[in-house]
Amino acid sequence: MKTRTLGKTGFEVSEIGLGCWQLGNDFGPVEDKEAIAILQTAVEEGIHFFDTADVYGGGLSEQRIGQWRKSLNKSPVIATKVGRSAELYPNGYSKAAVKKSLQASAQRLGVESIDLAQLHCVPRDVLFSGDILAWMEDLKKEGVIKYFGASVEMLDEAMFCCGHTELASLQILFNVFRQDATESLLPLAEKNNVGIIVRLPLASGLLSGKMSLNHAFSERDHRSYNKDGAAFHVGETFNGIPFEKGIELVEALKGKLPEGHNILDVSLRWILDQPQVSSIIAGASRSSQVVRNAAVSSLPPLSKELHALLAEFYREEVREHIRGGI
Ligand SMILES: NC(=O)c1ccc[n+]([C@@H]2O[C@H](COP(=O)([O-])OP(=O)(O)OC[C@H]3O[C@@H](n4cnc5c(N)ncnc54)[C@H](OP(=O)(O)O)[C@@H]3O)[C@@H](O)[C@H]2O)c1
Repeated sequence: MKTRTLGKTGFEVSEIGLGCWQLGNDFGPVEDKEAIAILQTAVEEGIHFFDTADVYGGGLSEQRIGQWRKSLNKSPVIATKVGRSAELYPNGYSKAAVKKSLQASAQRLGVESIDLAQLHCVPRDVLFSGDILAWMEDLKKEGVIKYFGASVEMLDEAMFCCGHTELASLQILFNVFRQDATESLLPLAEKNNVGIIVRLPLASGLLSGKMSLNHAFSERDHRSYNKDGAAFHVGETFNGIPFEKGIELVEALKGKLPEGHNILDVSLRWILDQPQVSSIIAGASRSSQVVRNAAVSSLPPLSKELHALLAEFYREEVREHIRGGI
């Protein structure tokens, strides 16, 4: 597993990290044993960067990570998020409330100070007011957190955060079906030493290539209840693309890939080929997926021709179908 520096944190993180939303049982039940197996497999594969949030399973994901990390000789880098709990969202934001929320996360994670706390898609007006970023700066000085970053939905939010002098990292939606950040955000992030953490690298699993039109998701899975944005931002689930269109686009792209290439490896490798990316936090509902995704770190970069093909396919076929704005 190769490593990269995570922006201003200076942490060396694995190119492939692990997204831990599923460990909150938010996609369907994951037994404790399976949750530990996923985390353990990740470490065995060289993954030492984990992304969670206070709201994943109402704290269950953090709790599981916190319990499990006690068994390790060396703690991995754990990033969590703040800003979407019922106490804060949508209009309960104050420095005291953010601090309380982060302290509860630290307790669940079993750490004195959180490695990286990310604002969790807070409302645009809250973000753009700048106060919340100043509170994070204060909380860093107070030692509640070591570093802070932001997880955002839209590129203009990312660009705004990138201008904050102490912001260490940005978590963005970025994949072969959402490429716009390559031109605007990534150069700015590099200039300002902001580490890029990529979420939804597989567009909620679409880009694994395994789904078909009759793929069934559990009722508890956001890919069922939020597929059209009924519960949270429409741009999030399946990357904002209507599921049926997503399947059609995946099948079309599969048909264009050169022989010997599969869509999952190509999708993850395309992200790693962007040098500004620090880590990809792919989700995994079982250990075998962790192993498969981790292996992409050892694959060679894609050819120039394949990059050009993917850029054209995105521009001509995909971009217009993304709902919720970019
Ligand atoms: N607002 C935010 O800040 C925010 C929002 C969303 C996510 N996140 C973070 O980003 C992480 C990743 O997001 P995500 O899990 O929604 O999206 P994702 O990484 O694009 O998709 C993960 C899904 O893809 C499938 N998959 C993964 N590896 C596979 C493999 N090797 N073979 C076949 N299928 C594979 C699995 O689907 P099945 O379960 O169907 O097998 C898995 O649940 C989350 O865990 C969370 O940490 C943050």
